Amino acid sequence: MTLHSSAARTTPVGDEIACGSERHVYLLPEAPDRLLKVMRAKHLRAIEGCDDRTWRGWLRIRKAHALFRREQRAWSDAMLRASVRDAWPPLSGIAGLGLTPSGLGEVVERIVDAEGQTAPTLADLLHAPLSAEMLTALNAFVAALYDWHIPAYDLGPKNILWEDTTGRFVLVDGFGDRSVLPLKTWIRRLNDRRLDRAFAETAQKCPLTWNPRTRAFEQGARPATQ
Ligand SMILES: Nc1ncnc2c1ncn2[C@@H]1O[C@H](COP(=O)(O)OP(=O)(O)O)[C@@H](O)[C@H]1O
Ligand SMILES: [Mg+2]
Repeated sequence: MTLHSSAARTTPVGDEIACGSERHVYLLPEAPDRLLKVMRAKHLRAIEGCDDRTWRGWLRIRKAHALFRREQRAWSDAMLRASVRDAWPPLSGIAGLGLTPSGLGEVVERIVDAEGQTAPTLADLLHAPLSAEMLTALNAFVAALYDWHIPAYDLGPKNILWEDTTGRFVLVDGFGDRSVLPLKTWIRRLNDRRLDRAFAETAQKCPLTWNPRTRAFEQGARPATQ
């Protein structure tokens, strides 16, 4: 085996900690502060036997990994902004890509709780009413997504994690621009409107109310309209 073969460079993968609707999430035994995300079989089946030298094959390979590609673009834009701000974006960092026996893996920063274990999601925290401090932190996260001009399409409560060390919420999934023409990435006002819609959708999945005027969550679900 030479160092040019991909097998010689395969990233060792640890236990699976979660499986979302699109990806498996694994620990990395050699880097406890990171996680590895691999596309689920429904995406990888489509590229079995694909030839990347053909136009059709290459398109299918790109499509199967579109999620990684849009997250990486959004992360890279956020870091450009971070370079001129004294702040860190409200996203989990992306360290790069690695090859694994089950496909291409995205290496990300692992968001942890006070004990160093995988952090709780907003969905976990909402099993009880949010404390006033947590609600304030959630609304600081909301304001940060607008301020950092983060394109996002799925702000479901399982994609928002509580980072204990920094006392803030962090988005780990559902960000990036899905459009062929990335107008929301270019035009802040369009992105703001998309975020308005995404947060209104979040409120439908949580016992929280979205106030579109203040762009903030409030305690309690909105009563169902007759
Ligand atoms: N960076 C991270 N740090 C800690 N836990 C994470 C991180 N990313 C994902 N997770 C956990 O894994 C779950 C699924 O990950 P996610 O990226 O949302 O997968 P999918 O793209 O399939 O929805 C999340 O709900 C969260 O519990
Ligand atoms: Mg998810």
